[in-house]
Amino acid sequence: MQRILLVVFLAAAFMYVILHCNLWKDNYYRLPPTYIKRKTALGTCSLKPVFVSELKACILQLCLFNSVSCKRCVVVGNGGVLRNKTLGEKIDSYDVVIRMNNGPIIGYEEDVGRKTTFRLSYPESIFSDPIHYDPNTTIIILVFKPHDLKWLWDILSGRKINTQGFWKKPALKLIYQPKQIRILDPFIIRKTSYEWLHFPKKFSKKEKPKHPTTGLIAITLAFHLCNEVHLAGFKYDFTDRNSSLHYYGNETMSQMIENEYHNITAEQKFLKKLIDKNFVVNLT
Ligand SMILES: *[C@@H]1O[C@H](CO)[C@@H](O)[C@H](O)[C@H]1NC(C)=O
Ligand SMILES: *[C@@H]1O[C@H](CO)[C@@H](O)[C@H](O)[C@H]1NC(C)=O
Ligand SMILES: *[C@@H]1O[C@H](CO)[C@@H](O)[C@H](O)[C@H]1NC(C)=O
Ligand SMILES: *[C@@H]1O[C@H](CO)[C@@H](O)[C@H](O)[C@H]1NC(C)=O
Ligand SMILES: *[C@@H]1O[C@H](CO)[C@@H](O)[C@H](O)[C@H]1NC(C)=O
Repeated sequence: MQRILLVVFLAAAFMYVILHCNLWKDNYYRLPPTYIKRKTALGTCSLKPVFVSELKACILQLCLFNSVSCKRCVVVGNGGVLRNKTLGEKIDSYDVVIRMNNGPIIGYEEDVGRKTTFRLSYPESIFSDPIHYDPNTTIIILVFKPHDLKWLWDILSGRKINTQGFWKKPALKLIYQPKQIRILDPFIIRKTSYEWLHFPKKFSKKEKPKHPTTGLIAITLAFHLCNEVHLAGFKYDFTDRNSSLHYYGNETMSQMIENEYHNITAEQKFLKKLIDKNFVVNLT
């Protein structure tokens, strides 16, 4: 048993390294020449895996070179609170717009805007319909389980996707170009879980292990990228179980309340603290 585990672990580690090198190589050669020059001039984006530190450096450079007042970010949650608030124009006015999962833009532009700088997704939540393709977006993949890395490896190399081991059918085709894909540094997820939400490291057999919502992970990431973090779409209506969970679709709050894999109480408490202490500005 131990030997099998070791082999699995080594295989995973190996894939991880190869994947990163591959992704990076891909980016490096396909980036416009000016971008590469910028990198060597500043010497910050060196040849290493594209992790958050890399993202950070690159965003800084973009800001420097486009001389925009930079690092004003808005994290757009998928909450039903965004409905009919016509915040679209306001959201698009930020330098960086971070969205998550399959929160659509098409058909909701007035309420949520059009611009997406970063979109955090995992295999079960990434868009698979090409209608949602946006060449200006960088997709940041959240890796929660070994299957997720395997999925990314297979989908990038055009292999057949094995759908076993996912809690919902994952995307079978990548609608984005490989150069638009990054992997989120697992450090960000760990930090969200343990430092911010104080999740226990071990759960009893009766309990479902908790993990943070993509929204909270996106906020943690924003704090690592931006000077100023604003939020929209991060409020739940707990008083009405029939109220819309998202600004799209017909899922209701009751589905979120019953979700045993998240601790919404802990997340809302934490968000309230962030807002009360003026660490973030809440638009909704
Ligand atoms: C939003 O506006 C539309 C059209 O004006 C209306 O049909 C809908 O009920 C509104 N939704 C909410 C949640 O207020
Ligand atoms: C992508 O960005 C370019 C340049 O800023 C812009 O002209 C174009 O409309 C954007 N495309 C989409 C789909 O948003
Ligand atoms: C919620 O919806 C259910 C079924 O559609 C209905 O029976 C119930 O009365 C609703 N509750 C509220 C508070 O609107
Ligand atoms: C809710 O959405 C699902 C999937 O989009 C759809 O199949 C279902 O018919 C919808 N239910 C209602 C009550 O609109
Ligand atoms: C959720 O987090 C709160 C702390 O904010 C804790 O008191 C509660 O027990 C947690 N609930 C579950 C189901 O883990």
